[in-house]
Amino acid sequence: MLTHKITSGINGDILIPGDKSISHRSIIIPSISNGVCEVDNILKSEDVIHTMNAFKAMGVNIEEYKQKLIIYGKGLNSLKKPNKEIYLGNSGTSARLLTGLLSSQNFNSILIGDKSLSSRPMKRISEPLINMGARISTNNGLMPISIEGSKLKNSEINIKIPSAQIKSGLLLASLNTEGITKIIEESITRNHTEIMLESFNADIKINKLDGKTIILVKGCKELESKNIDVPSDLSSSAFFIVAALINKNSKLIIRNININPTRDGIIYALKKMGGNIFFHNKRYKNNEIVYDLEVLSSDLNGCELNSDVAKLMIDEYPILSIAASFAKSPSVFRGLGELRVKESDRLELINTNLKRCGVGCEIKDDDLFIYPEDNYKIKNNEIITEYDHRIAMAFIIMGSKIGDLNIREAECINTSFPSFKDEFVKAGGLIS
Ligand code: S3P
Repeated sequence: MLTHKITSGINGDILIPGDKSISHRSIIIPSISNGVCEVDNILKSEDVIHTMNAFKAMGVNIEEYKQKLIIYGKGLNSLKKPNKEIYLGNSGTSARLLTGLLSSQNFNSILIGDKSLSSRPMKRISEPLINMGARISTNNGLMPISIEGSKLKNSEINIKIPSAQIKSGLLLASLNTEGITKIIEESITRNHTEIMLESFNADIKINKLDGKTIILVKGCKELESKNIDVPSDLSSSAFFIVAALINKNSKLIIRNININPTRDGIIYALKKMGGNIFFHNKRYKNNEIVYDLEVLSSDLNGCELNSDVAKLMIDEYPILSIAASFAKSPSVFRGLGELRVKESDRLELINTNLKRCGVGCEIKDDDLFIYPEDNYKIKNNEIITEYDHRIAMAFIIMGSKIGDLNIREAECINTSFPSFKDEFVKAGGLIS
């Protein structure tokens, strides 16, 4: 895919699809609850389709009706043994959450993934589960993951790595575990699983103490299904927010965006840089906060962000780095080690691709430094994505400012945002 420079700004009213994290959970949780769930505005991207197919393969009746998904849940122990391995494509969320859920089921299963997912660390989820008595084996900490379903012991688990995927996998495992499981999280991570479990009447209590989150789950209580209206995805909208901020003559409206405080670091960062982002029409959907956003072209300043912010916006560094490349002063983003184990080594790819675009940048330990200039001379217009959707979309936005970039393997965008190109072109973007 080839990007082109634009001059007339990013404008109009665009449609961002449903939130990816909430969409996965909107399949997983209703599938193990009692009752029928209608899910509206679910993201139909490759990652979420892999989660849906996994539950269909485990016997859950899931129908698509108009724009909705209808899930007929039959309770905590209603899943059936799949008749082959479950293929999860590129989706780390499916892999970690399903490892947790399946470890306390009464059948065996094997999870496999694509090349990228097969190189991502899985010990972070298998180890705490093994400490709860799970029988899981991995290929030296990588996929395939073989799970021998068994009864787990309720335990106290301290999560050291800031990861909502680990927390959610453990929460799902504890739903089918007798007694009270205590999960202690040292840093805040996205809390969509807890919000949905509470609304499905799980026996779950959440306390905050000295910066830690302590979650108590009393297992073996059946969940009651509810209809879900999935709000639109802040992480996907971030590409458009930054496109509007850095391109002159922009005025963009983005409706129905989930602004969950455990995930709104990108808004904090862009506002700190001087971004004109306005919030309208606050409301709630299934206990998740939703706003309509208005974004105007802005003169951005650089900023320094510490590692605490990283946990609240871990997926947004590729696009934040593009914003920082057009700021009036340098930026430093600290504590980005977790970026190395995402769909690609994102820290390395941000650095390599920015350099190809002519931007001065460097990595020191896990910190990224960006030194913006007024005019960039492209050094090499091939953008390496390693099939990472967020790298591809971030550098399409870069191309709207600096001109022709050849985004390799751009079809990977389908993992999270299949309508990205259409919405970008609708808003004034140019790609061929
Ligand atoms: C996700 C959690 C994050 C995020 C991923 C989605 C989730 O991963 O990067 O895109 O839905 O729970 P970690 O929690 O492992 O950082």
